[in-house]
Amino acid sequence: NADLTAFNTLALPARAHCLVRPTTLDELEQVLAGHDPQEPIHVIGEGSNLVIEDDLPGLTVVLALDGMMKVRETSEHVWVAAGAGVHWDDLVAWTVEQGWQGLENLSLIPGTAGAAPYQNIGAYGVELAQVLEQVTVMELATGTVSHFSAENCDFGYRDSRFKSRDKGRYVITGIELKLNRQPHCNISYGPLKQHFAGQDADAVTAAAVRKQVIAIRQSKLPDPAVLANAGSFFKNPVVDVQKAESLKAAYPQLVSYPQQDGVKLAAGWLIEAAGWKGKRLGPVGMHSEQALVLVNHGGATSADVLALAAAVRADVWQRFGVQLEQEPVVLP
Ligand code: EPU
Repeated sequence: NADLTAFNTLALPARAHCLVRPTTLDELEQVLAGHDPQEPIHVIGEGSNLVIEDDLPGLTVVLALDGMMKVRETSEHVWVAAGAGVHWDDLVAWTVEQGWQGLENLSLIPGTAGAAPYQNIGAYGVELAQVLEQVTVMELATGTVSHFSAENCDFGYRDSRFKSRDKGRYVITGIELKLNRQPHCNISYGPLKQHFAGQDADAVTAAAVRKQVIAIRQSKLPDPAVLANAGSFFKNPVVDVQKAESLKAAYPQLVSYPQQDGVKLAAGWLIEAAGWKGKRLGPVGMHSEQALVLVNHGGATSADVLALAAAVRADVWQRFGVQLEQEPVVLP
């Protein structure tokens, strides 16, 4: 029986019935082989995208498989492998230091390398899906190890097969990424475009983009070590073109991005416009610099989090007729 407060960045005080921290594939295999199949298994990394609603029955596995290395290269590309337990930003920092380009826009995202494919992490115009070569997984029921190419992961916006049709079936044990030796940075995201204005995109280095992304994130997003949070608490909702146009007519400032299947709205804008930016409900609140981030000012329970989330969702629905979908994974 273990306290999980330090294993989830929202710092919710749940407990795990049984907690294990395998550091190698062999250890993980042994843990799974000794596990009663009637009992549930929960796999967590750094718990940075989690809402632990209640105590976790069964087995909780905190993956600690480490190691990162170059596995092959051509004149144009390098392929890099990382264990699931590697801290994501250590991997980004190391590859950028080597002069390899591809991960810089994903700088400073909390969490582990193994958790990255679950929700297809993304930021500042880049998603993991664009740089991922393959993932290595172990099937929980059998201990069988296999590989999925990026094309076979069903990646979508903050989504993958591991979060949807194969939920609970596999544990991701490692990832392999394909990076560029010569930079072709993506500086299309507004604030990056402004910062690098006038520079030839291919002359911009990954190190310069990483530095800028870190500056942008630090200006808006609370460090979970200082103010507990799980990043964006809702997805940016996609609505049909007609709905977006009627909202735009009523609210000309609305921030929106055209998509293939409709129009994506900035949930942070909707929440701010509904009056929730910087507002508290008990020990939790919506962040004063980024209204999409729900923060725990100290001592919150999952009931506090759910009450605030429900209030925000209800207000946004009433005011704009838009449904917000929760972004972090819910356990158990
Ligand atoms: N906005 C507001 N008020 C706010 C917050 C945002 O008006 O309080 C407006 C901003 O002015 C901006 C727009 O909304 O025009 C978008 O804001 P921002 O660039 O901060 O990004 P986001 O759409 O709120 C998404 C991701 C973030 C990612 C950023 C940058 C989701 C759910 N979130 O946020 O990812 O870092 O874009 O690419 O897609 C996360 O997933 O945990 C996360 C932090």
